[in-house]
Amino acid sequence: MTRTIYYTASTLDGFIATPEHSLDWLLTRDIDNTGPMNYDEFIAKVGAIAMGASTYAWVEEHAPGGWEYTMPAWVFAHRDFPPRTDGADVTFTSEAVPQVHARMVAAAAGKDVWIVGGGDLAGQFADHGLLDEMIVSYAPVTIGAGAPLLPRHVEFRLEEVARNREFACARFEVVRDGE
Ligand SMILES: NC(=O)c1ccc[n+]([C@@H]2O[C@H](COP(=O)([O-])OP(=O)(O)OC[C@H]3O[C@@H](n4cnc5c(N)ncnc54)[C@H](OP(=O)(O)O)[C@@H]3O)[C@@H](O)[C@H]2O)c1
Repeated sequence: MTRTIYYTASTLDGFIATPEHSLDWLLTRDIDNTGPMNYDEFIAKVGAIAMGASTYAWVEEHAPGGWEYTMPAWVFAHRDFPPRTDGADVTFTSEAVPQVHARMVAAAAGKDVWIVGGGDLAGQFADHGLLDEMIVSYAPVTIGAGAPLLPRHVEFRLEEVARNREFACARFEVVRDGE
């Protein structure tokens, strides 16, 4: 059954990027790509992804080999981005989150849905009761300010913790009302 998962890396003080959208605090760190909660294992189970406009802009600017995602993607934005010419399955949208989510679940065909970020977008899915899980790899650094991990009150249940080299990795289940 499809699960909707916010999978991300964070600083210890709960930021996923600096105020200038830099990930330098993250990208230089040691991680075992076959270790606990690694990306390759996670992405293999993902059938659709969603991200916000800043995250998309970051990926466009920094992805060395171009768009790497093979599954359908939805980018939430009001601003205009140039149409893609590389055939990537990317839909720009400002439709309501539940409608887009329903399309994502259908496209995922039993695989999981990944909310790439940012934090507020993940929060919008949580607002609608559509977020199931959050997996965070915490880097051993604080940066004082930046793009927030999840700027909401959401209750979680800790399901799993593990060390992956420099990272403290944790998997949380969203606790829904009445649970
Ligand atoms: N540490 C990590 O692993 C990780 C993971 C993901 C992202 N990041 C980074 O974290 C930063 C996140 O940036 P961010 O906090 O600004 O979040 P974001 O979600 O990437 O971008 C926010 C923008 O998305 C658009 N948006 C959000 N919800 C929308 C909706 N319901 N409908 C239409 N548009 C919507 C709006 O764009 P408009 O201005 O066009 O309205 C909004 O300003 C980025 O720098 C990204 O690279 C880091």
